[in-house]
Amino acid sequence: MKIFKRYTVTSALPYANGPIHIGHLAGVYVPADIYCRYLRLRGKDVLFIGGSDEHGVPITIKAKKEGISPQDVVNRYHEIIKKSFEEFGISFDIYSRTTSKVHYETASEIFKTIYDKGEFIEKVTAQYFDEEENQFLADRYITGTCPHCGNENAYGDQCEKCGTSLNATDLINPKSTLSGSKPVLKETKHWFLPLDKYEPWLRKWILEEHKEWKANVYGQCKSWLDQGLQPRAVSRDLDWGVPVPVEGAEGKVLYVWFDAPIGYISATKELTDKWELYWKDQETKLVHFIGKDNIVFHCIVFPTVLKAEGSYILPENVPANEFLNLENDKISTSRNWAVWLHEYLVDFPDKQDVLRYTLTANAPETKDNDFTWADFQARNNNELVAILGNFVNRAMVLTHKYFDGKIPEITAETDYEKQMLEETKKIKSNIEYSIENYRFREALKEAMELARWGNKYLADTEPWKLIKTDEARVKTILNISLQIAANISTLIEPFLPFTADKLRHLLNIEKIGWEKIGTEYHLKAGHALNPATLLFEKIEDDAIKAQVDKLLQSKKNNEAAAAIAKPQKQDISFDDFSKMDIRTGTILTAEKVAKTKKLLKLTIDTGIDKRCVVSGIAEYYTSEEIIGKKVVILVNLAPREIKGIQSQGMILMAENSDGCLCFVAPEKNIMNGGEIK
Ligand code: MF3
Ligand code: ZN
Repeated sequence: MKIFKRYTVTSALPYANGPIHIGHLAGVYVPADIYCRYLRLRGKDVLFIGGSDEHGVPITIKAKKEGISPQDVVNRYHEIIKKSFEEFGISFDIYSRTTSKVHYETASEIFKTIYDKGEFIEKVTAQYFDEEENQFLADRYITGTCPHCGNENAYGDQCEKCGTSLNATDLINPKSTLSGSKPVLKETKHWFLPLDKYEPWLRKWILEEHKEWKANVYGQCKSWLDQGLQPRAVSRDLDWGVPVPVEGAEGKVLYVWFDAPIGYISATKELTDKWELYWKDQETKLVHFIGKDNIVFHCIVFPTVLKAEGSYILPENVPANEFLNLENDKISTSRNWAVWLHEYLVDFPDKQDVLRYTLTANAPETKDNDFTWADFQARNNNELVAILGNFVNRAMVLTHKYFDGKIPEITAETDYEKQMLEETKKIKSNIEYSIENYRFREALKEAMELARWGNKYLADTEPWKLIKTDEARVKTILNISLQIAANISTLIEPFLPFTADKLRHLLNIEKIGWEKIGTEYHLKAGHALNPATLLFEKIEDDAIKAQVDKLLQSKKNNEAAAAIAKPQKQDISFDDFSKMDIRTGTILTAEKVAKTKKLLKLTIDTGIDKRCVVSGIAEYYTSEEIIGKKVVILVNLAPREIKGIQSQGMILMAENSDGCLCFVAPEKNIMNGGEIK
């Protein structure tokens, strides 16, 4: 295996058009943070790069909606996002932004270098244009029907339903999201990255040389490559972005997916003069942490940009996660179906690690996964409190009780104690293997093993009983238990940095380096502990219920919003209306139609006759409850056969926002056969 001298670790730059939620943390930032904290503990030279992605159409759309400038939008959210990351202990070496001066310079330079090498294809093509707004319609400024899956709300660059990346001209029934009008085609010049030319190289580099990439990442790359790559436009007709730095490109900017990944490089430049070591030296390991929707850009497009430029290293790995759902439903900003980080901290102050723990234990590493509040509570109460917290607390409390809070001497060691270092060594090396292979769930589980071992050790040796008969053994047991706690403080540091700090404070020690774990005892006899306090508190049912209620409230609000009446249909003439013969009637009999869920067979007294009508109302009414009800019926609807039954007419129903139907009936007692007019 190749040995690297240093690491450049990047995490996807979130769009600065909204705050961040648990899906962001679980998918990208917590795993990246675990990886970097681990490397630092091992004494490695590592830079952890983050920042806000401040270009792109969603930002200009938001600005327009709110009547402010795009810069105002990104200023607001950059600060909010940055603060959330700090609060959750995401240990970036720099958190920058793509509207910085350095970034504009860096992105322009890279474009210019590739341009000067003649690598771009310059092409005039017809693009959609909104004549009312006098503007080209890039990316999300246009929607229409996806030619692959029929989704009516696909965007000009991507269909979110089937994940296909699109060109606006692929859309069926394109519509401007600015004015709603039908766009026209107009010619415009753009620069294209010739992905097709790089395809053989990409195939070799990814499919042959990076078979170790995660199955989801490798699989997506393979399917892209197998479909065949096309040149991709890297410029847009927009006024928000990095201007295309060549002549004759007025009014054009770099495509957001061209400039954003370059943000990793700009941020590094901003951080250190030695940035080139981290981006151009073959002994640097470059790793991109991202979500699955970013795979093609990080595995195919950005590496091609770096390769075309010529002086940069390429990523060694791109560990992408799948998506996190919330209570069995897709996380959605527009539906407010999310747990927002800033809101979480208001409700659970100082419980960052509980969330980090839950998100890691349940991370969507190989498939989409679900976050539930019940699982959050169980992880806290049954694992953090019952295993880790309980072990540390027992060792602390007993040492204070019997030995005045000073670490007792080892005076009566048995074989049991000797297993401790072995056990620690084994756990440590398992964690290393898992983290280095980007399996953070597994690594966390392993990190908890030492606390489990410690709990078992205390339960087996029972120092609280032995104290009456064998003080020497108790001294040894508590000494060893505290040594375990000290080892734990390092082993959990990548995952639970706040708890690791607290634990070190309890033990009154400094950080212990990774390599020292499992090699020796770190606490000297006589060393004084700080007073015992709890590492974790139990989370009660009412706190969880409050969170679930908050989500249910979102659901209700959405339903209320959906309850807005549908627009009026086209006008009809009075003649059209009077063709319909609508009467009052009474339901005489009702029975379920066999082998159907929705249908009832009714006999109606229409005043004219008694006739049979099949009606799709079984989901809303039982047969028993509707016998004798007054209804309104369209009697001259041509008869139809439904499930082998002749149905003569249609009962009129009113529909609610949730799709539920109910009868429409005369307000007073009217005879059967009364006309509706
Ligand atoms: N802003 C993008 C997203 O949220 C990610 C950009 S990653 C970068 O999907 F590499 F382009 F910066
Ligand atoms: Zn689609």
